[in-house]
Amino acid sequence: MVTGMRGDRARSELLGTRFADVRWVPETGSTNRDLLELAAAGEPAGVVLVADHQTAGRGRLDRSWHAPPEGSLLFSVLFRPTTPVSDAHLLSTAVGVSAAEACRMVADVAPGLKWPNDLVVTGSGSGSASGPARKLSGILAESTVKDGVLDAVVVGLGLNVNWPTAPSGELPPELADIATALNHEAGHAVDREELLIVLLQRLEHWCCVPAGELMDRARSLSATIGSRVRVDLGSEQIVGVATEITDSGSLVVEVDDGGSREVVVGDVVHLWPEALA
Ligand code: BTN
Repeated sequence: MVTGMRGDRARSELLGTRFADVRWVPETGSTNRDLLELAAAGEPAGVVLVADHQTAGRGRLDRSWHAPPEGSLLFSVLFRPTTPVSDAHLLSTAVGVSAAEACRMVADVAPGLKWPNDLVVTGSGSGSASGPARKLSGILAESTVKDGVLDAVVVGLGLNVNWPTAPSGELPPELADIATALNHEAGHAVDREELLIVLLQRLEHWCCVPAGELMDRARSLSATIGSRVRVDLGSEQIVGVATEITDSGSLVVEVDDGGSREVVVGDVVHLWPEALA
């Protein structure tokens, strides 16, 4: 892993926040993996590791995460919370909320949050036709526990920023229906470093406010609340209407079979009308 001079502007503009230690590398396997190793070696909270390209990017639920070189904002942040394990979800929520706000402030694109913390665009941008939510960004939180308490939480975010266009002007066909990128939504290229700076400034804000305020903001940005959803729980699937996100980060679903279920971990699909047929 070779550290370049990229990130000078971020380091300078983030001075005075807890996120000024920005380390920007051209390529690595996974920023989450690297930062977990740095955490184990004793690096302090606040380190931000950014990569132009990942060769073994990790996604939620043991998936991999692919992105074209230099086309995405790929970074991980190290937290060393003193709060109980049950509050760890607040860190990924804070990163998701900050990312949504940064997209709005830097690129004038307003994504929603798909539970738990994906950023999705539902067709209001100039590059999107109307249709189901398309994924702009994903978040993976990984933690280590020492003597029964959280030692480190690494929250990694991958955000599609400047993705190549196929000859048709849209994303490659295999991604066009499920993914989008900021440049496709905004109609122009977006500066990744500017996006990182604004995102981390918003994160500094959300790290300082009461948890209830953060969760209210997450609910107000939610694209899932009010949607018909199918939730894959591993052992079973449920279908219904998502009605609430609790302060502990669970998704409440009023299921078609009757009653309500509180989902702590699961894979949500927003059901677009055709999918109901
Ligand atoms: C998801 O599955 O939606 C979460 C994807 C998270 C990808 C990011 S990219 C930066 C960081 N490093 C990784 O290996 N994964 C996360």
